[in-house]
Amino acid sequence: MRDKIVAGNWKMHKNAEETEDLLNELINKLPADAAVHIIVAPAFVNLASAVQHLEYTNINVAAQNMHQAESGAFTGEISAAMLNGIGVTSVILGHSERRAYFNETPELLKNKVDTALKNNLLVIFCFGEELKDRQANSHFELVEKQLSESLFHLQEKDWANVILAYEPVWAIGTGETASPEQAQEMHAFIRKTVEEKFGPSVSQHVAILYGGSVKPDNAKEIFSKPDVDGGLIGGAALKADDFVAIVEAAV
Ligand code: PGA
Repeated sequence: MRDKIVAGNWKMHKNAEETEDLLNELINKLPADAAVHIIVAPAFVNLASAVQHLEYTNINVAAQNMHQAESGAFTGEISAAMLNGIGVTSVILGHSERRAYFNETPELLKNKVDTALKNNLLVIFCFGEELKDRQANSHFELVEKQLSESLFHLQEKDWANVILAYEPVWAIGTGETASPEQAQEMHAFIRKTVEEKFGPSVSQHVAILYGGSVKPDNAKEIFSKPDVDGGLIGGAALKADDFVAIVEAAV
């Protein structure tokens, strides 16, 4: 049995004060003993305070991005070592917004994954097809390509620190979700693809999250599917009550 994971991607929302308020609400409302791994990803500037705030809780902190180089003259960028230094344990890589708006390529993401793993960060690797790919019935092919281009160079041991997040782009922030059946179909395909390359011990252990308009009213059905191991939540992670309800749906 794989553990369930619910991660909240706060994107470019919440200033310092709002971050503290939301964290306090989450600390008060989230079940302390839930058998669900809970992760929140506030903006870079609020990560250090979030880590301190959550020190004695079961909530872990992820970054939403990082640079692929260990250090250097990259004005405005943040390294894996800097994240490590403030106690951040994981990083979201490959989010469709990073791919679309910041031109993050599969090769770049491959480098980011390597740097993150080398620095002992847990990687939450996002991927998923656009609407045009699904309409052209090439979504399985596309997803396989995304996995192979950025993750197939890994060694078996690396997978202990990788979480996959399937996020169909057409479902992100649109209110449109993949049906639980569509999610299960793709997650089973992803697990089979990982198994073919890395064997069953990797494929049976890797967590595959679903992301894309997960809300309190659809979470339970999606999470009940055998190959869906939880969710990566955007909009609904910004409201404590919604996020708590989604975590409870994963229990
Ligand atoms: P959404 O975002 O839940 O608002 O669709 C998901 C994500 O971008 O990870």
